[in-house]
Amino acid sequence: MKIIVSSSIGEKYSADLLIYCIDQKRKDIANIKKKEHRPTIVKACELGDFLAKDDDLLVDYDNEKTLKNFRRVGYVGVGHIHKRISANELRERMRKVGGNIATLCKKVKASKVCIIPPEIASENTFQESIYCLTEGIFLGDYKFSKYKKEKDADKGKNKGISELKYIHQKNIQKLRKVVSQAKLAAFSTCEARNMANEPGNKWTPESFAEYAKSLAKKSALKCTVFEKAQLKKMGMGGLLAVNSGSETPPKLVILEYKSVNRKAKTLLLVGKGLTFDSGGISIKPAAGMEDMKYDMCGGAAVLAAMNAVAEEKPQFNVTAIVPATDNMSGSAALKPGDIIEHYGKITAEIINTDAEGRLILADALAYGIETYSPDFVIDLATLTGAVIIGLGHHHSGVFSNNDKYTEKLIDAGFRCGEPLWRLPLGPDYRKQLDSKVADIKNTGGRPAGAITAAEYLHEFVGETPWAHIDIAGTAWNFTEKTYIPNGGPSGIGVRTLIEFIRKF
Ligand code: BES
Ligand code: MN
Ligand code: ZN
Repeated sequence: MKIIVSSSIGEKYSADLLIYCIDQKRKDIANIKKKEHRPTIVKACELGDFLAKDDDLLVDYDNEKTLKNFRRVGYVGVGHIHKRISANELRERMRKVGGNIATLCKKVKASKVCIIPPEIASENTFQESIYCLTEGIFLGDYKFSKYKKEKDADKGKNKGISELKYIHQKNIQKLRKVVSQAKLAAFSTCEARNMANEPGNKWTPESFAEYAKSLAKKSALKCTVFEKAQLKKMGMGGLLAVNSGSETPPKLVILEYKSVNRKAKTLLLVGKGLTFDSGGISIKPAAGMEDMKYDMCGGAAVLAAMNAVAEEKPQFNVTAIVPATDNMSGSAALKPGDIIEHYGKITAEIINTDAEGRLILADALAYGIETYSPDFVIDLATLTGAVIIGLGHHHSGVFSNNDKYTEKLIDAGFRCGEPLWRLPLGPDYRKQLDSKVADIKNTGGRPAGAITAAEYLHEFVGETPWAHIDIAGTAWNFTEKTYIPNGGPSGIGVRTLIEFIRKF
């Protein structure tokens, strides 16, 4: 999608769709640049057919002469943008309006689109609003149809938006930068959605490795992939144990960005790359098991965020690690009762082979902390069904041993419309993981299942500042929004990470 910012529409410019963003209270009549477009909206408002609420849409075709270079004119409500609206509320509203615009474009198959934004008094707020509007349009335009044959009638028609033009008179250079940042964040999110949409037989640990290598190839990132033989030598007992019931070898995929600043701080990102979770010997029920192809969304999010890191080159180091495997029940599979040894020699008694995410993350966290001495660690994982019981599909759970960074992370999440809610940790929860035969056991019973899972990870992190984000309820089936595919993978975490990194 090409995005243009210009101070005027231009006499010769033509497009499939010209969109006016209409404020509910002011109805933005003056903002409608072409006088001949005004009667429609005035009449529609009079008749109450168009209220300019943030989900209102109106399309006008009637008179070829007045439309001139535009095949259609669309009026898109943005609700009332009043002075007391909170920054995050406005951001989210603009993303949703963006999603509405994308839906309209899909419906009328508009590929070249021109937008007259709403008038907003504060220029900063305006720029932020256009950032979010752009994100919403880009994210709403997303589709995954790789494995679906196109019907003849639709051949070549449904290509999405190819060109977006904003009309604005002030601070055009700044606005250009803002929309390109929005585009990068949205693009990276769609990369994560693409990985997640690939099924378990197509997106394997090898695919994570390939993706990381291709990112490194086109940027200044360094990619390292540890293969099974090396993982054995290194003592990655958790990742190997989970992989032991599978025909498909595991990988530990690492992408490193190094800042030119030698004294720079280091941020470590770790993502659960479980390419299919059958539960292993503690096998899951059949109903809904197909969704367990999404168990790699944490890994997808951290690699996708590295896209933006490579592009924006922050002043500190960022390393992303993805432990990748599926969880199967072949004859060599891990069994309940087995005792394994993690990277760093901590031993674990396996109670349930379906609590596998923590096993692969433990190795990756221990290795990453030892190797990179990070100042802060964030891990993302579709870790527990329990977090869905606690928070549903509207917040990701966050668990941390560090208040300062976690506050910033939560703030980043809310700014992005990816809200996080902090849940506690503590020695009483850790006790639930005490084992009679090993240093720790891999499940802590039904109570506080999301917290005991986090405590398992905590064991491998120790005092290093760290936050764990449990995205089991939000990686797919996330709160229904116009810019998030209904039911499908949301790409959660990518924009929060990018936002956090921009402010770290
Ligand atoms: N990947 C699942 C968690 C999950 C469940 C994510 C549902 C999204 C939707 C994880 O590996 C798992 O199976 N966790 C178990 C842990 C239990 C055995 C202690 C769970 O939550 O049931
Ligand atoms: Mn599992
Ligand atoms: Zn899992």
